[in-house]
Amino acid sequence: MKKRFGYFTDNGREFVITTYNLPRPWINILSNGRYGFLVSHTGGGFSWLIDCNLNRITKWYQDVFRDMDGRYLYIKDIDKNEYWSPTYKPVMKKLDYYECRHGLGYTVIKSRYRGIETEITYFVPRKESMEIWIVRLKNMSKRKRNLEIYTFLEWWLGTIYDIDRQFHGLFYDLWVKDNIMFVTKYFWTGFDGSWNRSWNYIAFLTSSLKAISFEGCREKFIGENRSIINPETVEKGECYQTIGRGFEPVGVFKYFITLNPGEEKRFTILIGVGENEDRIKKIVKKFIDFENAFRELKEVKKFWLDLLCKTTVETPDKYVNYLVNYWYKYQTISARILSRNAYYQQAAAYGFRDQLQDTLTLLLVDYGWAKRQIIEHAKHQFSDGGVMHWWHEHNDQGMISRHSDTPLWLVFMVINYIKETGDYKFLEEIVPFYDKGEASIFTHCELAIKRVLKKFGRRGLPLFLSGDWNDGFNGVGIKGKAESSWLAEFLYLILNEFSTLCKIIGKNRKAVLYRNKAKRLRKNFNEKCWDGKWYLRGFTDENATIGSHRNKEGKIFLNAQSWAVISGIAPRYKARKAIISAEKMLDTKYGPALFLPAYKNPDEKLGYISRYAPGTKENAGIFMHAVTWMMIAECILGRANKAYKIYIKTCPAYRGLDPNRSKTEPYVVSEWIAGPDSQFFGEGWNSWLTGSAAWSLRVVLDYILGIKATYDGLKINPCIPRKWKKINVKRYFRGSIYEISINNPHRLSRGIERIIVDGKQIKGDIIPLFNDGKTHYVEVFIE
Ligand code: GLC
Repeated sequence: MKKRFGYFTDNGREFVITTYNLPRPWINILSNGRYGFLVSHTGGGFSWLIDCNLNRITKWYQDVFRDMDGRYLYIKDIDKNEYWSPTYKPVMKKLDYYECRHGLGYTVIKSRYRGIETEITYFVPRKESMEIWIVRLKNMSKRKRNLEIYTFLEWWLGTIYDIDRQFHGLFYDLWVKDNIMFVTKYFWTGFDGSWNRSWNYIAFLTSSLKAISFEGCREKFIGENRSIINPETVEKGECYQTIGRGFEPVGVFKYFITLNPGEEKRFTILIGVGENEDRIKKIVKKFIDFENAFRELKEVKKFWLDLLCKTTVETPDKYVNYLVNYWYKYQTISARILSRNAYYQQAAAYGFRDQLQDTLTLLLVDYGWAKRQIIEHAKHQFSDGGVMHWWHEHNDQGMISRHSDTPLWLVFMVINYIKETGDYKFLEEIVPFYDKGEASIFTHCELAIKRVLKKFGRRGLPLFLSGDWNDGFNGVGIKGKAESSWLAEFLYLILNEFSTLCKIIGKNRKAVLYRNKAKRLRKNFNEKCWDGKWYLRGFTDENATIGSHRNKEGKIFLNAQSWAVISGIAPRYKARKAIISAEKMLDTKYGPALFLPAYKNPDEKLGYISRYAPGTKENAGIFMHAVTWMMIAECILGRANKAYKIYIKTCPAYRGLDPNRSKTEPYVVSEWIAGPDSQFFGEGWNSWLTGSAAWSLRVVLDYILGIKATYDGLKINPCIPRKWKKINVKRYFRGSIYEISINNPHRLSRGIERIIVDGKQIKGDIIPLFNDGKTHYVEVFIE
């Protein structure tokens, strides 16, 4: 058996890491949507307020291999004159025991060094702009221990770009009062780029322990020719109590604790941000109190469990259960919705298409939240239907999208929202545009569609422009001639779905209009995009094919085949053929590649897709977003075992059984896995910050278990592995709870014999709507 480095606790709510020697940092992201922090399994990471790029509170340079920037503790045994870090870093003394538990909304790192057991619980309160560490120390040895404890962090209070530290050091102001360190900065380019603006908050650090000394200056703390591995202050025990201005600031407090044999002591550490000293003192007073801190920790845990457990599954595959019940949702909400941050990428901004797709998760946990998120995106649409590609929350600035597909994701999500909630009124809600004026959500959607319909090429297919879903194709369509067949597929789905919606709400003329547009698109697509055995990916400005057997590189693309099925644009026999081609040509030991072979040389006519190392990211990596769509296509075609095989190959928990190969966390999805054309084939990269967490959730719920929201109720159409005999699902839907059991006594994968709802057999496969806030019992029999 391969070395595992950790395991899920029995109910799957925690992942316990059992060694500090991991191939990469395995992290947690703790955030309340305003204040957040990232913590690696050895205490690395940083804190931010609202925006993890423009408004960092503590210092952090992204360094996946070193993982040395963090907020740390040093413990020093004064009688033995030796010190260590209870989180292993930064001192890196071998610990006698170590364990890191990443949970839903908290992380606990527990360790032992020469008889001193330390346990640090990290979390962010629900509402305040701060983080709390509850620290427990226990003397497991037989002698009385006299310990010094030092906190350490580097204040940043600004943007990721503030790398000229000597220069930036000149703007800070640091003072210590009543056991609290306060620090601010009279310079902040993060709001509007201005070089004449102050950071408009005060950061603080304090503890329930009474400090015996402190140090504010990084140079004095570290000393000459040293680093944070062996800082002079800790080694010599001497603090200079530097306050004031003109230096690079650190947050160092020195505390003293004695522990008799067997004795245990607890203390809290608070780090945070406030508008002024008085406000800070108020929140410090509240949370320095243990009772309040513990109560808040309980609240945070409860918040997450209540949120995540509205819909849960119990399948024979425990990893499916752990990920669906907790981790896919947690990953989407914590990293993507609340933080837009992860170790490998600090996106910070909201992405128009990205967070709309994440809303697929929000819809399962909180209708109101999903609605608010959709409105946020609609507000970032222009009155001509175009949209911002991304924007920062705290200054509302960003980049206009020149990608062809982006506006359509708004329509996609609105349709999903209505199917889930039945809230047709939402279509009438008036939302302003980013530039001028306002309109109903319905009009926002129509404008998005019309914008894409206006930009068609010579074959009657939508233009590629600066890229479609695939950001890397940014050179293909800049002359405005290239056409995207994937976008044709996506647009086809949207046109038909929107037409159906129009019909339901009585807009029959529009329903016919969009249905006809779809028909014409289908004809063009099937005439121009069939390559013999699969569908093309598109045509460049120069009229060259992408994704054809005639191409030496990029012969066949996964999305063009999967979406041929998902959208319904392809005739069934061609769709099947396309999927079988994709299976044959793209499947690998670690899952299906985005396309193959990879582009080997930079080609400006394609874009930066060809500049990535072959086999990485969008250049023929195993791109998880696309993998989830392939699983959906397999399920739609009824190929249950194929879908589940892909699931097992790519599911983070299964990949975690060989962590030296997979490298990234077993409890969250990574954006991509290196493809066969990479020398690092099978390695995971870019964990946490990927829309494929939300899509993975939907793969299992909507397609494998086949419980899907429709306008008329929940449609049941499972496509499960044959070996699954019984599955229980608790599905929240429009105010009611559906306790659904799927029975598969004959070990089949699909085909419904009967559905019994509350003791009565129903006709068809859609569970009727109750809207009564009660629990309903559904029995599904597969035959
Ligand atoms: C990343 C981006 C997403 C894009 C995808 C493919 O996941 O966040 O917007 O569609 O890559 O390029």
